[in-house]
Amino acid sequence: MTRYIIKVEADPSSDKIWVILSTGNIKSQETAIAKEGDTIIDFENKPEEILIRRETSLLRTFSKWYCRYVTATSPDENTYYFPIFRNISAGLTTIKEKSGKLPCEDLSEEREKDLKDRNNYLVTLGWRQLEQTALSGEVPTEKPKEHNFLLGTSFLVKALSFSLKLFIVFRDETPLDTKIVNGLPRFTEAGSIFKLPSELWFDAPKLLTLIYYLVIIKIQRNVRQFWNMGHRWRTIEDIRRVFLFPSKKAEYISKNWKDDAFFGSQFLNGCNPLLIKKYTEDKQKIPIKKLKMFYPDIEASIMEGIIYVVDYELLDGIRENVISGHQQFLAAPIVLLKEEDNTLMPIAIQLTQKPADDEPIYTPCDGNAWLLAKIWVRNADFYIHELSSHLLQTHLVGEALFIAIYTSMSRKHPLLRLVSESGRFTLPINVIARNILVNEGGFFTQNTGLGKGAQLEILKRAFKQLTYQSLCLPDDLKNRGVENLSNYYYKQDGLMIWAAINKFCDAVVNNYYRNDSDIKNDYELQRFIKQLYQNGLSKCKGGWPNTLETREDTAKFLTTIMFTCSALHAAVNNGQYDTYAWMPNGPTTMRQPPPKLKEDVTEEYIMNTLPDINVTLESMSVAHFLSQPPSRNLLGQYSDEVKHEPKMKGPIEEFNEVLKKIEDYIDRRSKTQELPYEYLSPSSIENSITI
Ligand SMILES: [Fe+2]
Repeated sequence: MTRYIIKVEADPSSDKIWVILSTGNIKSQETAIAKEGDTIIDFENKPEEILIRRETSLLRTFSKWYCRYVTATSPDENTYYFPIFRNISAGLTTIKEKSGKLPCEDLSEEREKDLKDRNNYLVTLGWRQLEQTALSGEVPTEKPKEHNFLLGTSFLVKALSFSLKLFIVFRDETPLDTKIVNGLPRFTEAGSIFKLPSELWFDAPKLLTLIYYLVIIKIQRNVRQFWNMGHRWRTIEDIRRVFLFPSKKAEYISKNWKDDAFFGSQFLNGCNPLLIKKYTEDKQKIPIKKLKMFYPDIEASIMEGIIYVVDYELLDGIRENVISGHQQFLAAPIVLLKEEDNTLMPIAIQLTQKPADDEPIYTPCDGNAWLLAKIWVRNADFYIHELSSHLLQTHLVGEALFIAIYTSMSRKHPLLRLVSESGRFTLPINVIARNILVNEGGFFTQNTGLGKGAQLEILKRAFKQLTYQSLCLPDDLKNRGVENLSNYYYKQDGLMIWAAINKFCDAVVNNYYRNDSDIKNDYELQRFIKQLYQNGLSKCKGGWPNTLETREDTAKFLTTIMFTCSALHAAVNNGQYDTYAWMPNGPTTMRQPPPKLKEDVTEEYIMNTLPDINVTLESMSVAHFLSQPPSRNLLGQYSDEVKHEPKMKGPIEEFNEVLKKIEDYIDRRSKTQELPYEYLSPSSIENSITI
């Protein structure tokens, strides 16, 4: 006989509660729960379910007794977990054992069937060229609780939930068809969210929040349009006319966007802080001879390691767009920056990739021409931010990660329970993005300078450069040589969040895996890694592991997944409206080519280059929609069932304590900053990519 210690987490009750351990056929003796101290049950087998009997008087038959969970711990410290999290009525209730289990601990038929079902989800419908799909430009087949407006509309939410459930019940389940296209991460074939398996859909509050913001933003756009009917931009200050409903940060940017120090700071703390690198003369794209004419000591500064570069080479030779019959223009600029007195100042801009004698180098002494060169850089930054840093590195990589893990592991696998939070709502939001933003007639083809096929070309180029290390923040910062850059808050906050996630993953991995052999023997985990390497990331030559050997490597890999789908996405997503609301700080297209002569550039020349009023309004609206405040599932928050599981409980509590400390630190720092950096404050980071 094994002596199990039973613990019941429930509301106090005056009723008599009985517990029976069971394997289905064999049952232990009925034992009353001790009101004080531990309850002991002797049972020979491993308990697979428990039976709870609540004995109450006739008068109290309809009274409620809320029970959270029950655990049964054997003398060798094996804990069996029975999550309940609901009211238990009078009479007998059966609850199944549900701790996360590695494959070697669970050889049940149920698990085998579950795995088979999940693998069947992966139906690859051939190798249709991407040129026929959305990304090429052709049409293919919530705030935190206290701020959420939906909390006051529970009737609406309930009604929508009910309709969704009804729809799910009467609908044939569709498999998760996916697509493999060379040169891009794997993505779902579904052309609408209703073609996804229903368990991957938005829930009612998320759907309502999306609809609410869509309506509000549409109304705002129409108000702006009505207000400015018949107007066109004559001066930069005219743009302020559409600047209704801006955020505080957008206001700040509209007043400081011309400032060189602010321009430099956006490479560190704007919505695209991933590009800046230490400058080496390797490629000689900007001839040093020419730089010396402006900065005689440039070589010494390079040697000193205080010169940095942002290079938009991905845009070189990309096809330009035509909007409403008007040719648009692109540049692939290179900007050099120097760190002096803890401030990063731009010192030179070249608007092309190839050095040429007649190719001007713009410097801060060039007046209007310098301002226009900076606007070209901001325009290039918009493309690379949205397509590479945002869409590819977070949304598409997150989708491939989720598809690989979702189809390789059983529901009972503890790591699936952990990581599935990182993929919540990612597939439906990506389906919507492919249908309205990057499709033919979508936002990009109508409002940006990128011509047909250009989005796909940029994505493919960016994916070629994407490596596993570039998604591991400490390695990425080291490889870019930016560890010593000061006032780089993305770096500071990102490293704190990275360390917190890594410590959490480490604790979870060590709780489930006794040693490195357990990792090698976990065939579901190994299958996930292989699936991701071979199909998910199209054998991308980026140092992605195709096997995991140690607990340390596994914790790092999980950290990369969680960080990418939470913090990295927050860093590149949450500041879109702040950054792009003031159009000159991030124009989505340019209507004139770069000037031949610096002297040609006047304010009128700049105004003729910037987007017109319609494109400005559309871009503001889209940026606003994409910068919705985070919904209810923040980093570190897990369902009741997961967060009380014995091997998860401690790490999740500790993780949340660390996140709280980071939040407090960022709050205190924000009070001292003119433009606070809060995109990586834990209360702004969602667990997954949902917008
Ligand atoms: Fe996003």
